[in-house]
Amino acid sequence: MNKEAINKLMRPKSVAVVGASSQPGKIGYTVLENLIKGGYKGKIYPINPAATEILSLPVFASVSALPEPADLAIITVPVKFANQVAEECGQKGIKALSVITSGYSEVGRNDLEKELIDIAHKYGMCVLGPNIVGSLSNSDDLNASFGPFLPFKGSATLITQSGALLIAMDAITYTRKVGFDKMISIGNMADVDFADLIEWLEDDKYTSCTCLYVEGIKDGRKFIDACRNAKKPIIALKAGTSVHGAAAAASHTGSLAGSAKVYTAAFQQAGVVQASDLNNLFDRTLALSLMPPLKGTNLLLVTNGGGVGVLATDAAEKFGIPLKFAPPDVQEELKKHMPAFGSAKNPVDMTGMAGNDWYYETVKFAYAHPWTDGLVVLYCETAMTSPVEIAQAVKKAMDDSGMKGKPIMVSMVGGTRCDKAMQWLVENGIPAYGPPDQAMNAMAALSELNRIQSMLDKTEVVSDPACAAKAAEIIAVARGDGRTALTEVEAKQIFSAYGLPIAQTWLAKCEDEAVEMAKSIGFPVVMKIISPDIVHKSDAKGVKVNIKDEAGVRESYKTILANAKVYKADANIHGIAVQEMAPSGTEVIVGSVNDATFGPTVMFGLGGIFVEVLKDVTFRVAPVNKSQIEQMLTEIRGAPMLKGVRGELPRDRAALVDVLYRYAIMISDLAGEVSETDANPILVYAEGKGVKVVDARIILKKKA
Ligand code: ACO
Repeated sequence: MNKEAINKLMRPKSVAVVGASSQPGKIGYTVLENLIKGGYKGKIYPINPAATEILSLPVFASVSALPEPADLAIITVPVKFANQVAEECGQKGIKALSVITSGYSEVGRNDLEKELIDIAHKYGMCVLGPNIVGSLSNSDDLNASFGPFLPFKGSATLITQSGALLIAMDAITYTRKVGFDKMISIGNMADVDFADLIEWLEDDKYTSCTCLYVEGIKDGRKFIDACRNAKKPIIALKAGTSVHGAAAAASHTGSLAGSAKVYTAAFQQAGVVQASDLNNLFDRTLALSLMPPLKGTNLLLVTNGGGVGVLATDAAEKFGIPLKFAPPDVQEELKKHMPAFGSAKNPVDMTGMAGNDWYYETVKFAYAHPWTDGLVVLYCETAMTSPVEIAQAVKKAMDDSGMKGKPIMVSMVGGTRCDKAMQWLVENGIPAYGPPDQAMNAMAALSELNRIQSMLDKTEVVSDPACAAKAAEIIAVARGDGRTALTEVEAKQIFSAYGLPIAQTWLAKCEDEAVEMAKSIGFPVVMKIISPDIVHKSDAKGVKVNIKDEAGVRESYKTILANAKVYKADANIHGIAVQEMAPSGTEVIVGSVNDATFGPTVMFGLGGIFVEVLKDVTFRVAPVNKSQIEQMLTEIRGAPMLKGVRGELPRDRAALVDVLYRYAIMISDLAGEVSETDANPILVYAEGKGVKVVDARIILKKKA
């Protein structure tokens, strides 16, 4: 990150608008007008070859005519002039460019974009964009964009790949009363990207939470590292999760939208909370920007209405933060501020009789009590109460409790009086929502933040160079033969080098050898054709199972060879694998792909119908620590199968975790050579009995 240049980009003391126009309606006019109307205190230099004065400001004929190098140049000239302007900016000593101009990689002109960045880097400049709306900052009264106005004030910062969405969200900040300090459009991300800004925002005292609208990340590992290192919460809305949406995103930004499941995995590993849609992004951003994480499972609800209490309880369960009853001593105290027919369990129902005082006393006690990890205050509009007064009582209770460091939020169900009260709450630092499920979802975001942050650094990933060296030898043999598919035996040798528990598999070159091997492994055995020309062994009738004795081995050897010849007469046959016949167990699949954005990525799912029909799989970017792997095992819909069903004992999770851990190290080590792998099936036995990798596949990258 070019920090010095990004400082000038984000907090300039002077701004030049190249292409400032005197014609209202043009972007070059609007940007200049926005700078003035926003109240920007730095120097503003409009640049236009023909005009002498625009919006009462003196105009400069060119960048070189400026009295000083402005900190930031906003480029609003057509693409055919823009790179020349960038060159002039560099010569002048300007260090930051905000290139609003479109017509670069998003329309296939990668050459022009590369030229722009080459020019910028030649002079040590950073580039925001191109193809952007610009950037906005409340703390500097800086509307350096053609967005309509500075956002509703607050401490979140938005970074978005869609400029149009920035404009829309800017307006929504006022209707939703979700406060932002900055909104930054990064468009084609040709230079300054998410990671650079996330890193820069760490030191920005006006930003408490970073909010991302993501279509496609270019350098996935850089993104993960930047997010992992960030102490401020990050929330992302990933667009392009549908097949069609991904295609639309790719054409919009000129970048790769990637697989939604891999993004979800990467966000988990990077400590990034996800939003499901735009509304949800606002709800969750509000909570993350104002409140600390929810660090425990004791969530207390306080309400004046049973109905909203039930709705909130349902929502809590749905969003993974189920309620439990408060302990008896807490209930005793809570009963003091409700009628006899109220309930002090959880939700704490003070009934419709609750006024300011009961809200005050109950919230003050409940918020301060050590049992409570988080508090949600629900309110239904009644004729006897004033929503603003209730809001004020909640705030006063929170302040008077002396407690800090745990989340509190409010849900007010009612009309315009509630809207005013909620605005008051937000302006006073308490997240407030209408429907209770929105509040509960926002509280769940605070819980997710705590969970994913606590999983970030738990287990060190340790790689052993000896494993990689052994794998390299085996890969070299395949490369020498001009092959990209390793045989099952070769793949298993690599798996074995990484300590994966494979079903013993040896390669027999003749019948006698096969017999010796079978005897050594112990009957029954499985025999399989091993040929780089026969990928689908069963199609070639090249597999025999449950071979019980020597005669069976001899017979199978002949039959398999004969079948292979019929299937493909000129097949290059390496021999016949003799394999231990593993006892049956719960079938799972582990595999890997080399994701275009995030690189080697490990996949886990249950075998058979679960993977083939239900696509019930989950991913992590490799390598991955063991706490993340534990989480993977719970993420699939078929997770209960691992707990043991229909009287089965629980499956050996520890052994499975170890397999995934080693597997991820393996694909990470071999990422330069390997494109895809499979361990399918892996049989998982009862606790303490381990797992067995029955089949193995490794496909190498094609080399030019
Ligand atoms: N130095 C200074 N000024 C110059 C130069 C130069 N080298 N060359 C031209 N100009 C002036 C022009 O004279 C003109 O001023 P005028 O109105 O006084 O004559 C001004 O720059 C603008 O030039 P125009 O030719 O009028 O261009 P126009 O304003 O129509 O378009 C723009 C320029 C806005 C950059 C356009 O090419 C463009 O890229 N539009 C898309 C921008 C966009 O939407 N970005 C965000 C994408 S995200 C989203 O979807 C919202």
